Amino acid sequence: MDRSLVNELPPPLPPEQILAVNPPRKDLHTTRSYAWNGWDFEVPPGVFLPGGTSRMIHQRILDGDIDVRGRRYAAMGVGLGVEAVAAGVRGAEEVYAADVHGPSVGTAARNFTRLLEGRTDTRLVPVVGDVFEGFPDGVRVDVVTFNPPAVSQAVSTDPDVVRNVCVGASITEKFFTQLGERSLLAPGGEVFLIVSNTADLRRIVAHAEDTGFRAEVHHRHDWGDGVLTYLFRLREDARG
Ligand SMILES: C[S@@+](CC[C@H](N)C(=O)[O-])C[C@H]1O[C@@H](n2cnc3c(N)ncnc32)[C@H](O)[C@@H]1O
Repeated sequence: MDRSLVNELPPPLPPEQILAVNPPRKDLHTTRSYAWNGWDFEVPPGVFLPGGTSRMIHQRILDGDIDVRGRRYAAMGVGLGVEAVAAGVRGAEEVYAADVHGPSVGTAARNFTRLLEGRTDTRLVPVVGDVFEGFPDGVRVDVVTFNPPAVSQAVSTDPDVVRNVCVGASITEKFFTQLGERSLLAPGGEVFLIVSNTADLRRIVAHAEDTGFRAEVHHRHDWGDGVLTYLFRLREDARG
């Protein structure tokens, strides 16, 4: 297999630099708020507060660069649900609002209903489970996004911080393994995965390729502090 993309990707930053760019947040267990695109979101304890990396996906859904119109969309690791709301505005057919954290899924569903009630025909399907485990058999989706907690260093021992930020490459390995084994991606489907060099990019992309996905760099952002964020677009190799 041609590993040129894998070999082009940078190695993980040194551990001390990863810790420096991911300082522990002290407010995760409080109720916070988040405003974006004229929408106000309540962020209950334990739910991830979106940052610049999150917005790289949210904005592209809203702009149509990540095309969800009329499509079945899985918002994996949905957190408080900004991407689900953006997909509702863009006219997705269905949005699977999926997260391992039940309170995040409940928050995403509440935000979707509160902000879009009567203004969208998009059907929201809340799913709680470890990546795709909660998806009913037979479901197929056309688009998947995931901003995974793939940071390769444990930046905290708090299990909620780990779940949100630093599970490591095993999270995307489970994601691609389940996606492939259960044939959850419809023909022509696209996966948008966002990860930076605070994670092991080479291991993540190599595993996705070994599982039958072809990756390309859809967008790359240099934050100017050593962190390089890659938005990968992946498609499944034709089976058979
Ligand atoms: C970095 S946050 C992203 C949240 C939101 N999508 C955003 O971009 O603002 C990662 C999310 O993945 C969820 N998560 C962690 N492990 C997961 C798993 N095994 N299955 C599904 N979701 C998971 C976390 O609960 C969290 O909401």
